[in-house]
Amino acid sequence: MKVSVIGLGYLGATHAVAMAELGHEVVGLEPDPKKLEALKAGVLPFHEPGLDEALSRVLKTGKITFQAEHNHHSASADLHFICVGTPQRSGSDAADTSYVMAAAKALAPHLRPDAVVAGKSTVPVGTATELQKVMTEITGFDVNLAWNPEFLREGTALEDSLRPDRIVVGAWNEHSVEVIKAAYAPILNLGTPFLVLDVPTAELVKVAANAFLATKISFINAMAEVAEVSGADAVSLAKAIGYDERIGNKFLRTGIGFGGGCLPKDIRGFMARAEELGVGSAVEFLKDVDAINLRRRDKVVALAKSELGDVRGKRVTMLGISFKPDSDDLRDSPALEIAQRLSREGAEVTVHDPVSLSALAEKEPALGREADLVEAVREADLVILGTEWKQYKDADPHALGAVVANKTVIDGRNVLDVAAWQSAGWKVIALGRSIQNG
Ligand code: UGA
Repeated sequence: MKVSVIGLGYLGATHAVAMAELGHEVVGLEPDPKKLEALKAGVLPFHEPGLDEALSRVLKTGKITFQAEHNHHSASADLHFICVGTPQRSGSDAADTSYVMAAAKALAPHLRPDAVVAGKSTVPVGTATELQKVMTEITGFDVNLAWNPEFLREGTALEDSLRPDRIVVGAWNEHSVEVIKAAYAPILNLGTPFLVLDVPTAELVKVAANAFLATKISFINAMAEVAEVSGADAVSLAKAIGYDERIGNKFLRTGIGFGGGCLPKDIRGFMARAEELGVGSAVEFLKDVDAINLRRRDKVVALAKSELGDVRGKRVTMLGISFKPDSDDLRDSPALEIAQRLSREGAEVTVHDPVSLSALAEKEPALGREADLVEAVREADLVILGTEWKQYKDADPHALGAVVANKTVIDGRNVLDVAAWQSAGWKVIALGRSIQNG
């Protein structure tokens, strides 16, 4: 099949490569000249394990090409995937759907009547209906629009795209379903569940899934707040409740909470949309989910202050700055916010991260950066683990302890071997746990 992928951010770039890996002829569209040139040269504009190799592979086969805007080439595609971003609007909680609308309007004049448009972006329920109307007005024929939400996670994006838990399609006609089904045929042949739904349900599935995941994390972080004042241990608690299959042990990792370009803005966008629809109270609990999540950041700042007293001039090392490991994404990163707040209050913050230091230099040049782990903690008065990169879990507490000014670590992700760090002389402070330090 010939497919176009419109918008080559995390979602679009991964999807374009995945489609080419499945054997389709793919044309990717990206207006940002920097991103476009990088992709043409086989360089990903972000860090995603395995995706750069896959991109080089499909570039070599000639299965994928990239261009800035539509032309006869993209117009000949059987299926167009809209993958542009829907960020949080500035000054509001709502999702900004202007990029999705612009993508649909730019595509419409090039559409063949039998072509199918599949929206993959995360949108407020009702967006597809609006897009369908606008595109039909431009083309003069009933556009085959469907919604096909994406559930990939950063860090495992390609694997999630090629081996998803399920494929969801919301469509208004059978032709759209058949074309989308044909595009995913090699994945469906593996036995992947294929759910055909109505369009609003397909739009809602995505935000509902992210709202549920965010709620699960905030639930365990709420338990952490209770554990912290009652001498209980939220990590053991998560393990104990997680054995119940109805609860499950995934997404119950307590720590500094969720960040990234999806969960935080999606729960806010969901609340804003529900409010517009007159059912704001149905998802009002997400306000608490958001608040619990943000309170974890306050907690780390408060712990740092209680350890350091006056933070001015104190050296703090942040281990990991991306919102999760295996990613250099700094959007709404809890570790970044904590580092920024301590720095604003006068601490000398040095950041270590295996892949995010250049992204950090662009976003927050005021923070110190050090690529060598031992150098990063040298003379530190306090070390904070902000992202659970494997190399921090594997780090030797003796080697790090030998160079710091003060052996105190706040484990923001509950991944350190507490006994090993304590026996190397460290004071270990963790969220949701009452650790006794010698
Ligand atoms: C999330 C969803 O998991 C994907 O299914 C979805 O497709 C994606 O958003 C999206 O909407 O595009 P992602 O943002 O890549 O994926 O990352 P997650 O693995 O969900 O982690 C989100 C945040 O939650 C991270 O900051 C992570 O550290 C935190 N987290 C995760 C916890 O604090 N505890 C946990 O138990 C799990």
